Amino acid sequence: MDLDHLRSVGLFDLPEQLPVFGPGAASENRLASTPDPPDPLDAPAASGSRWSPQGLKEQLDKLPVSQLFPELCDEVMGILHRWHQRLPLKVWSRMVKICKGSAHQVPSVLKELNESAPVIQRVRRWVEALPSTAPKACILDLGAGFGFLSMFLSELLPCEKVKEFCLMDMSYANRGVDNSSGTTSTEHIYKVQWQIPMYTLKVDLKKKTTLNQIAERLLQSEDLRERPIFACGIHLCNTLGIRAAQLFNENAEVSGFAFVPCCFPTSRHVAQQVVYQLGQHRFAAREFLDPKVVPSNTDRFERWAEHILEGIETNSKGIEHHELHRPTNGMFAQNIYIFAERPLNMQPIQVETRGTCVVVDAKFGHGSKAKKKAQKKKR
Ligand SMILES: C[S@@+](CC[C@H](N)C(=O)[O-])C[C@H]1O[C@@H](n2cnc3c(N)ncnc32)[C@H](O)[C@@H]1O
Repeated sequence: MDLDHLRSVGLFDLPEQLPVFGPGAASENRLASTPDPPDPLDAPAASGSRWSPQGLKEQLDKLPVSQLFPELCDEVMGILHRWHQRLPLKVWSRMVKICKGSAHQVPSVLKELNESAPVIQRVRRWVEALPSTAPKACILDLGAGFGFLSMFLSELLPCEKVKEFCLMDMSYANRGVDNSSGTTSTEHIYKVQWQIPMYTLKVDLKKKTTLNQIAERLLQSEDLRERPIFACGIHLCNTLGIRAAQLFNENAEVSGFAFVPCCFPTSRHVAQQVVYQLGQHRFAAREFLDPKVVPSNTDRFERWAEHILEGIETNSKGIEHHELHRPTNGMFAQNIYIFAERPLNMQPIQVETRGTCVVVDAKFGHGSKAKKKAQKKKR
């Protein structure tokens, strides 16, 4: 990948140079941007935390993932032991933090494992199935946040088959821009030695220009062109999920797409008479959001996911339900997992323009602006 070129775009956020690693060269398996001390992360080790791997195991045993994915949980316990030995206390403390109001009220690292297990297993299957001659894959983690999915996969996937993770989120600081700050720290990504390197990109995945730049300057770049690419988006809120699916639709280089919806748009969209479009599929807010049409929250969430599935443009796709979430307060269970695949080495899709609006109509509000613009263009 031409990093200088990407950096010149201003939007992309990349480390100084991407790490290079040869198969089996464990000593090479480190980030090019790995620490230049002194650094706060050199400070106390995770072993000083009140959360030991044993304590985490007791919590893990209470979660649905331990029943549904027992072998994965055993592997993850091994990972937690290693992280506990090698991570700085600051990173470990963030991982074991119990966020207020979070599902299951367990340390974040366990909550995220519980929610991402089906995606982890699917990505492993995709990578395992790669032909031995395939170049190393790249995994895109869309709306990655702290990056738990990539961190787990960095330990679980074979280094000789996966080159890197690209974590995309609008909440990161832009490393290509001096004094840029973000609400999600990336210190743990760059200053800790991960088995398979990760880098972050500050991007707004709802922006048309961003989706075009990702396609042209990242997915079709020299470095990625021949590589298998898999995209995952865990717990992406309302229309961000449609944008993620749009990225899959419009980029044939992406061979696998794993998406876990988080929530659906608010009922305001019914009043606004919003109409969405993903691929060739158009659907109106009232079809899935109107309580008179779909009375239960659970059913509305299901319909929302079904519409997204319908808009995903490949024959090989489906919804899976995994009873991993036990909601409280009458909330719907976030148990829906969408997977889509297409063959490797597909030629780029020729689209006139990527990332067009996903809200294509509305009586008022943001969608109505897009509609007026389109009507003006027609005249
Ligand atoms: C609910 S969090 C999920 C984080 C992570 N995938 C996980 O499962 O822990 C949604 C993430 O999407 C990011 N996000 C929201 N809108 C975005 C946008 N327009 N472009 C890129 N990222 C966005 C947020 O910053 C947040 O980190």
